[in-house]
Amino acid sequence: MTLFRTLPLALAALLTPALASAQPAVEGAAIFKQQCQMCHVNTKGAKPAIAPNVFGVAGRKAGSSDFASYSPALKSSGVVWNTANLDRFLAAPGKMVPGTRMVIAIPDAKRRAAVVAYLQGLK
Ligand code: HEC
Repeated sequence: MTLFRTLPLALAALLTPALASAQPAVEGAAIFKQQCQMCHVNTKGAKPAIAPNVFGVAGRKAGSSDFASYSPALKSSGVVWNTANLDRFLAAPGKMVPGTRMVIAIPDAKRRAAVVAYLQGLK
């Protein structure tokens, strides 16, 4: 009997770390759907319409994809996207890159981290 009672607990303990590490990206995917997908495409080779494709954005130079309407500000920012500057950009895009056409901010640090984790998985 004790075995049956403790087994689920033991399994949960084993599974929790794996779930915990996947969780931010999963939450980020949901946020992306709600707040980003109306502008951004996010799959390999998808044609950008009103905003750049964010597939492969981590490690990419800002303003360097085949999106035709980048702002001169973002293009010449010299930024290479990584965890820290994606976080900074999404906190206040116009503050980090004055003149950017990206105007959507995520003020909540936890939600922002989730979206950044999600973006980094797009590769
Ligand atoms: C209203 C449309 C719109 C929404 C909504 C939007 N963006 Fe953007 N985003 C843009 C545009 C336009 C640019 C290009 C900005 C520029 O050239 O200055 C951009 C640029 C970016 C870039 C830089 C891309 C590159 O190639 O350098 C990232 C990263 C980004 N957005 C992430 C997001 C995330 C994450 C969300 C959701 C929280 C979001 N955006 C919501 C329009 C949008």
